[in-house]
Amino acid sequence: MLSLFKNKLSPSIHNNIGDIGIDFHAHWLPGVDDGCQTIDDSILLLSEFKRLGYKKVYASPHIMGDKYTNTKQDLMERFEIFKSDERVQSLQLELGLIAEYLLDEQFEDKLKANDFLTIGDKHILVETSMNYEFPFVKDYLFELIKLGYKPILAHPERYRYIYNEKNYVEKYEELMFNGIELQLNMFSLIGLYGDTSRKVAEALIENEAYTFVCSDIHLPSQIKYFEAAQKSLFLEKLIKSNKLKNLEFY
Ligand SMILES: [Fe+2]
Repeated sequence: MLSLFKNKLSPSIHNNIGDIGIDFHAHWLPGVDDGCQTIDDSILLLSEFKRLGYKKVYASPHIMGDKYTNTKQDLMERFEIFKSDERVQSLQLELGLIAEYLLDEQFEDKLKANDFLTIGDKHILVETSMNYEFPFVKDYLFELIKLGYKPILAHPERYRYIYNEKNYVEKYEELMFNGIELQLNMFSLIGLYGDTSRKVAEALIENEAYTFVCSDIHLPSQIKYFEAAQKSLFLEKLIKSNKLKNLEFY
């Protein structure tokens, strides 16, 4: 956290984050994971997206081993109840639902069931362990592709076991070559996950690796990071690169 707001931020820059248009990685569906726990907190987050100018935001609750055992059916029911709340409706913000799937041992059963929460044209948001390389991760990704899904790997700049390799850019390029797309957490650029993740995010932007950028915001206490992100030179560069495809999910 020490590096927060330190580097590559310029007071003269003011990105229009709202131009990103769609955020599909955030944890605002209340009470389902480590994100918002109350509807009041969810409304605070959604109000901020609205204020920034987003057109549509998706909740992406964790589906993660024994920790967050959410099912598609359960999440869909909770999402419908949430949407029917009067205060949520008065926000006049389009809402959607996907999930953030961890590629862990239990993912094999999910592949067998082949019933995922997806976005757009069968895009699926996935993450891996931050620290350990499981041998089956690539197999899962390729199995998803075989089944017609389009995996989006969340926050590649956060996977220590990949970025500790000297050739991590090549490793990501290999995934991209095989049809996997990469999604940046915008707060990585202001150092929220540490200096190394920030530098990796910058390197991946330089290599035109990202096609999506999202907030991965969990709690109202993180709203302040949007303001810092608006001053990020690299976010400015990414938004202006014409590489971003978030708006395809409108
Ligand atoms: Fe997330």
